[in-house]
Amino acid sequence: MRKEIVAGNWKMNKNLQQGKELCNSILNQLETSNKEVILAVPFTHLSVLAELIKGSCLKLAAQNCHHELSGAYTGEISASMFANLGVDYVILGHSERREYNKEDNDLIRKKVDTALSQNLKVIYCCGETLYERRSGVHFDLVAKQIIEVVFHLNTQEIKNIIIAYEPVWAIGTGETATSFQAQEMHVHIRSVIASKYGGEVANGISILYGGSCKPSNAQELFSQSDIDGGLIGGSSLNAEDFISIIKA
Ligand code: PGA
Repeated sequence: MRKEIVAGNWKMNKNLQQGKELCNSILNQLETSNKEVILAVPFTHLSVLAELIKGSCLKLAAQNCHHELSGAYTGEISASMFANLGVDYVILGHSERREYNKEDNDLIRKKVDTALSQNLKVIYCCGETLYERRSGVHFDLVAKQIIEVVFHLNTQEIKNIIIAYEPVWAIGTGETATSFQAQEMHVHIRSVIASKYGGEVANGISILYGGSCKPSNAQELFSQSDIDGGLIGGSSLNAEDFISIIKA
């Protein structure tokens, strides 16, 4: 059975006080869930929230890490620092980092290796722009993002990768992929993984959908057989919305 996961990506939102309040109200409303629930919060909040969530079923994620473990990289934070705080996951390859920080597949592959070396699990984001979808290259592009970033991993290592399919045109735009479009891409991603690692490994990998996922569409999306949960941006900033997505 694949793990079902709902991860909230707070991005650069909420100061520490607001973050503690949001985390507490999620904790108060969260009944035991059969889904893994993850909060990807700003770096500055991780150690405080790590204390808050102790003993609960919530897990923490970092939103990025550097590709080296230590050294003269002013302003950067390393995977080993996250592991040391009790963080379990790191988001890598998010389209906002690809766009604004010019991260390419080559760099993201190095970050994946560094994260895995510290026993962090990786939520690896892939997805096409609207232009790429309209040009009909979206399946090939997403396959390339997967091949270039995770295909060097061995069968054990790949099991620590969670894929998040996030069509760039759906992120923060209010426009969601239809459940058909999302399911179709998730099947494609699983078959790409199966072509290298075999069906059994591919069937064990969780593939999340992200991009304007909200309480009103989460159930429809999550009911698709290859959608194993979501990476939630805007709707994770409100406890009621986030809880309702977890319950979907
Ligand atoms: P959104 O963001 O839910 O606000 O579209 C998703 C994401 O970027 O992970």
